[in-house]
Amino acid sequence: MDEYFHLKDKKILVTGASSGIGKGIAERLARAGAHLYICGRDKERLDRVAESLNGTSHQTFLGDLTSAELQEHIASECEKLDGVVLNAGLIELIPFQIHNDQSIRELMEVNYMAPTLLLQKLIKNRKIARNASMILMSSVTSAVHGSIGGTIYGSSKGALEGLVKSLSIELGKQGIRVNSVSPGIIQTEAIEVLRTSLGEESFQNDLKKYPLGRYGEPKDVASAVHFLLSDSSSWITGINLVVDGGLTAHS
Ligand SMILES: NC(=O)c1ccc[n+]([C@@H]2O[C@H](COP(=O)([O-])OP(=O)(O)OC[C@H]3O[C@@H](n4cnc5c(N)ncnc54)[C@H](OP(=O)(O)O)[C@@H]3O)[C@@H](O)[C@H]2O)c1
Repeated sequence: MDEYFHLKDKKILVTGASSGIGKGIAERLARAGAHLYICGRDKERLDRVAESLNGTSHQTFLGDLTSAELQEHIASECEKLDGVVLNAGLIELIPFQIHNDQSIRELMEVNYMAPTLLLQKLIKNRKIARNASMILMSSVTSAVHGSIGGTIYGSSKGALEGLVKSLSIELGKQGIRVNSVSPGIIQTEAIEVLRTSLGEESFQNDLKKYPLGRYGEPKDVASAVHFLLSDSSSWITGINLVVDGGLTAHS
């Protein structure tokens, strides 16, 4: 692989690697030579991903990332990391008045609190190497663009983008970079569930808003994450990289 893109022997943590975008990211990074720590809740699927990856010695962390014990465990067991991809998340599009206390708290816990607290524990335990690159998975539905049903989901992602801005300033002196990636619709299991509940017609209408004429695939996001983890992006920090087939080019 090109010298600017290889990740040979880099140690990288990827959360939510048991399916969808995270699985696509893990496959790409392993092919680029990285040693991975991959996380998920579903043991069978996570093990299957680990077995399918290039390289031999990838490690798995199983469990719910909202658990402080699991966060501590990961932050104490992994070696010093050259990269962190906080991708695990819950996609729930619910009209604001239908949300309740529990559904609001759950979205904020999984999408904002869990990655934030895990990141803080990794930093406190000195598990982030100098010149490391950290990526938080946001969404085009965040603080800049809205969508019907996206009030709380978008708030959780907007909060992550806020964290990226200030943390990139705090960690810049150590050469540590912090960025987010905002995908448009990417065809994953989570989206198949939404497609069933929202209906095919509404999906076909939505697809018309994508200038490139298709929804994304996990590999489209994996390419952006690969770039942000590699030396090719060594002077890029504090940004949000939008990967949306042109969706947000519309005003
Ligand atoms: N797909 C899209 O169109 C889209 C667009 C914009 C942003 N995103 C973001 O991209 C990320 C991945 O989405 P996806 O479409 O790939 O979803 P997905 O297929 O449902 O995968 C979600 C992953 O996160 C893990 N996860 C969820 N909740 C968790 C928890 N509490 N603790 C530990 N792991 C947890 C899941 O683990 P298990 O399966 O093992 O339970 C799974 O590996 C999310 O942050 C999402 O918000 C997706």
